[in-house]
Amino acid sequence: MATTVNAEALNESPLPEAVAKESKQSVDPYNVSGEVGEDGVMKAIDYSKLVDEFGTKRIDPALLERFERLTGQKPHRFLRRGIVFSHRDFDLILDRYERGEPFFLYTGRGPSSDSVHVGHTIPFEFTKWLQEALDCPLVIMLTDDEKYLFSDKRTVEEVQGYCYTNAKDIIAIGFDPAKTFIFSDFEFMGGAFYRNVVRLSKHITLNQSRAIFGFNDSTNIGKIHFGSIQGATSFASSFPHIFGTDETKTNLIPALIPCAIDQDPYFRMARDVAARIHYAKPSLLHSKFLDALQGPGTKMSASVDESAIFMKDTPNQIKNKINKYAFSGGKTTVEEHREKGGDTSVDVSFLYLRFFLEDDEELEKIRLAYESGELLTGDLKAICIKELQTYVKAFQERRAKVDDEIVHQFMDRRPLKWAGNPRAPIVVPQVEGAAGTAAGEAAEGDGKLTKNQLKKLEKQKQIEAKKAQKAKEKEVQPVAAA
Ligand code: TYM
Repeated sequence: MATTVNAEALNESPLPEAVAKESKQSVDPYNVSGEVGEDGVMKAIDYSKLVDEFGTKRIDPALLERFERLTGQKPHRFLRRGIVFSHRDFDLILDRYERGEPFFLYTGRGPSSDSVHVGHTIPFEFTKWLQEALDCPLVIMLTDDEKYLFSDKRTVEEVQGYCYTNAKDIIAIGFDPAKTFIFSDFEFMGGAFYRNVVRLSKHITLNQSRAIFGFNDSTNIGKIHFGSIQGATSFASSFPHIFGTDETKTNLIPALIPCAIDQDPYFRMARDVAARIHYAKPSLLHSKFLDALQGPGTKMSASVDESAIFMKDTPNQIKNKINKYAFSGGKTTVEEHREKGGDTSVDVSFLYLRFFLEDDEELEKIRLAYESGELLTGDLKAICIKELQTYVKAFQERRAKVDDEIVHQFMDRRPLKWAGNPRAPIVVPQVEGAAGTAAGEAAEGDGKLTKNQLKKLEKQKQIEAKKAQKAKEKEVQPVAAA
């Protein structure tokens, strides 16, 4: 049967159980699957190949060292372990951070079911950490329109409902409401955002859309157009309530987009158009996928319960799913396993621990014990079950506290407040009522700062000088081994 997670969208598709036909690996927003060889077995996704094919850059130790030097933060375990492995122009974002120039974080979710799965939390966990490390504003897009357009079954009302429950899930990751704006496409479309959608769409031809996303003559035109909506969110001028109304400035503020690499095609297209319409090109940080329980090369599906751990699963469901479905890299008999050891490169329990176990030393001990045969599959599964139960329980405790009022707080159009790089030379406010870094604006020098802004600037400078002095006294730790 199907060798790709395909059909209308990822979330509709059955899992590739009995893969038969040979096929190449396929990674785009609507297809994610590893290569299938002559033997009919699906391989793990070759991420190195994707970097070359997509023309992105690998995240190397020098980039991580620079990040640590500038922010004073030890890189997140996703960075240390090569889970967030590739980027576009992240170095330019670091340049801006260093100079105290504005940028913002942008990520999103397509609300296709009433609960997110553990894979969806990967970019959100990482984004939360980045928001804290970089102290910058964040916009989170909920593409209810996309999930309606890409499904034969879902109604508009249904996706709007998912939008709301998914917003609660996202908030439960732990974002700071002062710095985070969450919006639904159905609700937010119009005004400055719609102007950018239209500007973008004017520069994308049907041929380009077909070539990038594989659309054909029977594709509904909503899908063909949708890329300009996801793309337009990467432009700061779509958010005048956060960045101000002067588009000559806001068009130059870039987005930094953390996502799994399946979303890259949308932003390749947005970057192309940005260059042509003189907007800042969005930067990206790409993560690998948390494989489905069935093993490497498969991607979790929000509508196939046994493919994934969901953030609403009970401890018992987690235990049963891992024990029953998690693909094992162990040998068939205990004797053989003790003698030859297990394969951590395909073992789903170990792969999950790479994503969720914070302690590098502990992870390495587990790897060695499993590969030497000392640790059996059952033992490894038990460790994984415990780790995931802890992760999901902590999430559910936070989720229980997210009420309607909190959702409104995140989704209201309002100025955001952030402070940026405490060591940067200049910090100025951007929108009255919001404290944002905007040295870039000052450096671009149109001499239009108001008296009030100049006063605030002077005050901020004094605070920053003090902070910088303190920061100098703190010693920055070297990057941990990847
Ligand atoms: P969606 O809802 O399919 O996925 C939400 C985010 O989760 C990532 N993701 C995964 N990451 C790791 N392991 C997995 N198994 C896994 N499954 C999904 C996705 O790459 C995505 O980052 N069209 C988008 C919504 C969107 C968006 C964005 C996403 C709009 N703007 C900007 C990222 C950045 C969607 O349907 O995502």
